[in-house]
Amino acid sequence: MSTEKPEGERLQKVLSRVGFGSRRVCEALILEGKVKVNGQEAQLGCRVEIETDLVTVDGAPIGVRPDVVYYLLNKPAGVVTTADDPQGRPTVVEIVPSDPRVFPVGRLDSDTEGLLILTNNGELTHRLTHPSFGVEKEYVAVVEGNPSRSSLRLLREGVDLEDGKTSPAKVALIEEGTIRLTIHEGRNRQVRRMCSTVGHQVKRLIRTRIGPLSDRSLSPGEWRELTMTEIRSLERAVADSD
Ligand code: URA
Repeated sequence: MSTEKPEGERLQKVLSRVGFGSRRVCEALILEGKVKVNGQEAQLGCRVEIETDLVTVDGAPIGVRPDVVYYLLNKPAGVVTTADDPQGRPTVVEIVPSDPRVFPVGRLDSDTEGLLILTNNGELTHRLTHPSFGVEKEYVAVVEGNPSRSSLRLLREGVDLEDGKTSPAKVALIEEGTIRLTIHEGRNRQVRRMCSTVGHQVKRLIRTRIGPLSDRSLSPGEWRELTMTEIRSLERAVADSD
């Protein structure tokens, strides 16, 4: 097995990330002898290459857990990103299957459209939303007026918001009045506030990419399950480096 692979990832981290519970729970699974790597009982702390090693828990290969689901939704405007809205507005969780129960990964404003992941994998959710993992989110913003080069530079270098200066962003004018912004923070109404601060209120906002995930063929209100390749690429995007 792959205990000698220095470039691999620690087994308990991999298990946690793919949805087997906290790091401690996963360590217990290993200590109880429930985890095998390439057919041999795994040792705590061994490193695995998720692409090439066959990891099983209770005999079932990880990554084919029927109880952990991942949906990619193209959220329409007017739908709220919560599990339950006290005001009775339509919610994103009502669009996807209700069993097993899933939760949105991060938030899009009610009037924002575009890609949103819903899953019951809490560890992946944490990693995708926590700024320390730096997963990029790309937005297309239709704004009032036509931003000048200096406005674009300000957006790119960082804008002073009431909760602090924004981190450097990738910013491009894709047509008159339409900007593509790529950020890796997830502050409340961040893109709208950034654009307003440089004098261009957002008229329409669409999220077009989450880390490695994009899908131009999904219409507003449509959803699909992530493919195994997409799940793996998301896992890689939030993997620890140690
Ligand atoms: N930034 C915003 O301003 N709104 C969103 O919904 C997402 C990012």
